[in-house]
Amino acid sequence: MPKRPHDATPTPDSGLVTHARAPSPDEPTPLLGNRTPRQFMRRYWQKKPLLIRQAIPDIAPPLARDELFELADLDDVESRLITHFRKTWNLEHGPFAPDELPAVKKREWTLLVQGVNLHDDRAHALMNRFRFIPDARLDDLMISYATDGGGVGAHFDSYDVFLLQVHGKRRWRIGAQRDLSLKPGLPLKVLQHFEPEEEWLLEPGDMLYLPPHIAHDGIAEGECMTASIGFRAPSEHELTAQFLYHLAERIGDSADNARAGARYRDPAQPPVANPAALPALLVERVGAILANVNWNQKDIAGFLGTYLSEPKANVVFDPPERPFNEQRFAERAKKTGVTLDRKTILLYDEKSYFVNGEALPLSSKLKKWLPELADSRRLEAKRFVTLTDDSTMTALLHEWYRAGWIRMGALA
Ligand code: SIN
Ligand code: CO
Repeated sequence: MPKRPHDATPTPDSGLVTHARAPSPDEPTPLLGNRTPRQFMRRYWQKKPLLIRQAIPDIAPPLARDELFELADLDDVESRLITHFRKTWNLEHGPFAPDELPAVKKREWTLLVQGVNLHDDRAHALMNRFRFIPDARLDDLMISYATDGGGVGAHFDSYDVFLLQVHGKRRWRIGAQRDLSLKPGLPLKVLQHFEPEEEWLLEPGDMLYLPPHIAHDGIAEGECMTASIGFRAPSEHELTAQFLYHLAERIGDSADNARAGARYRDPAQPPVANPAALPALLVERVGAILANVNWNQKDIAGFLGTYLSEPKANVVFDPPERPFNEQRFAERAKKTGVTLDRKTILLYDEKSYFVNGEALPLSSKLKKWLPELADSRRLEAKRFVTLTDDSTMTALLHEWYRAGWIRMGALA
């Protein structure tokens, strides 16, 4: 497997401050055109598009073009190549060896690399600037590279997105059209009748926010790179299906639940002359069993916490090759602090915490530090000085460190 770009010699400073934090709810920020996150969420989020000039002034791409191409060559990275040669749309899925990509001199192609935040600290830090929106809603940071004239065609998405220009220029045209019918027979979603209403040329640092279902088309003017900070919004069908699955597991698992092993019974069944007919008694009786299935807020929160903290199927953690034992780990942590790995998803509520798809009780001991670790994705060295007396905590953090869920020190 090729070496990961983030393990290779670091590129010259990208100009991105990797520890840049998200603005607090009432702090005006250039990221949102000098609005506060509260104003942005009230006026624009899920409601209407917003163009923000110089959202991140002096931005440099989190990854160089060749680093992005290296990522697209990895098995655990989702990438797509979209070409529009001779007016024909074509889509291929990665991984792509460098010689499988068209020449960078050739016009009208684009490479989309999903989940770059999982593989690169700078991309992860860039995504973290958007943590004024709950982690439960944040999906990933995708980077697209395009040659002159490149794009993915006029389309709409079902999710909110911040389209941040990180290198070169891209012309965006958008429209709030009702007709979202697609051109038939194409390998990608391209609108049949695109009716743009507004048009802007985005330069590095400029950003366009789009709520779901706004038609848009972005065409590169010269070579360019765009970072898309995308959100997850499961369909009601998906939520219902996943919740029912979670509930079934709970019923099946709970040893103290008499229903777990209970089985259908019909001592009152009379003999029948039409054996193929579904007995009304069976329907009634199963109806009564199902009417007994109940759930409460705790089940819903438990489901959401495990479901939303579950890493995507292609995520692989990198545990340390020669881990420190617990004592040395605690000593080092007192000097360097610890940081959640880019791939770790840690959520919490009043009673539980959810880490990478597991739900566990949030004891009063854990409450002292776990929400802090989850919110800032880091525990500073000085916190360990007071917390290392707590053996529950060091044991737990050591376990996470051995699993590759946390790292010693800060982001690279
Ligand atoms: C792109 O970055 O080329 C496409 C992003 C999008 O339109 O959603
Ligand atoms: Co889009």
